[in-house]
Amino acid sequence: MQMPQLGLGTFRLKDQQVIDSVTMGLELGYRHIDTAQIYGNEAEVGQAIAASGVPRDELFVTTKIWTENLGRDALRASLETSLEKLKLDRVDLTLIHWPSPNDAVPLSESLQALARTRADGLTTAIGVSNFTIAHLKQAIDVVGAEMIATNQIEVHPFLQNRKVTAFMAEHGIAVTAYMPLAYGKVMDDPVLRDIAASHDVSPAQIALAWLMQQGYAVIPSSTKRANLQSNLAARRVTLTDAEMAAIGGLDRGERLANPGFAPKWD
Ligand SMILES: NC(=O)c1ccc[n+]([C@@H]2O[C@H](COP(=O)([O-])OP(=O)(O)OC[C@H]3O[C@@H](n4cnc5c(N)ncnc54)[C@H](OP(=O)(O)O)[C@@H]3O)[C@@H](O)[C@H]2O)c1
Repeated sequence: MQMPQLGLGTFRLKDQQVIDSVTMGLELGYRHIDTAQIYGNEAEVGQAIAASGVPRDELFVTTKIWTENLGRDALRASLETSLEKLKLDRVDLTLIHWPSPNDAVPLSESLQALARTRADGLTTAIGVSNFTIAHLKQAIDVVGAEMIATNQIEVHPFLQNRKVTAFMAEHGIAVTAYMPLAYGKVMDDPVLRDIAASHDVSPAQIALAWLMQQGYAVIPSSTKRANLQSNLAARRVTLTDAEMAAIGGLDRGERLANPGFAPKWD
């Protein structure tokens, strides 16, 4: 299936909390779940999916290969372990979570290994995450732009990442916006609050609508049923050109996900 534009993030959520979040999300109608090997929650995500009774072909599941598993053999073995934990025969999308720190594993090696897992049916599509323009150029050389389903990157009103998203648009690579709520900070912004008030919705819904109206996929996370429900309802919010432009003016280069091993950002 196509990746639903709005999905459910699971970063930081563990044990019963992730089971509850995914269970509520599936009950409310989410059909796209985003996990990763490093989140340490694939087994619980798999448990919640299995218990939900949602037919497999109605669900889009993404996982991400951690940096330690980027070598040719490790990548495949780690994806097999992910599938076991998720209790799935295949995932819909597998991403390289971060470029290999200091290019320890050549990008050509990990991307070719990832493409092989796709050819062998472990994953339906492949993609990347936290890739800069330089990394994307290399990736396009190795597997071709048409093979790269998405680059999952941090995008929200305060970090709009215009350089890399423009490059991706040129090459037809879809944007998946992670931390679309700036980890809750959108709730406090006066511009977003004003626009939200005029639509009688929340600032979170405005941030999600602004991203989706640009054609981006979004994967907000929440532990609360009411927030899960209202985030999903952001699909029904339509912003005017003037509102889109006003939110466009909120960019302040505020990057929240920036670990020590991050690449040199664009
Ligand atoms: N590829 C990567 O390297 C990468 C990095 C970071 C994240 N991600 C993915 O992106 C997903 C989303 O990012 P994130 O979870 O870090 O941040 P986020 O979705 O921007 O924000 C989540 C925070 O916002 C709050 N929230 C959610 N909905 C709300 C609402 N309607 N009203 C008020 N507060 C609300 C949540 O609290 P409550 O629980 O109280 O609702 C939580 O504290 C992750 O879960 C993960 O799947 C990927």
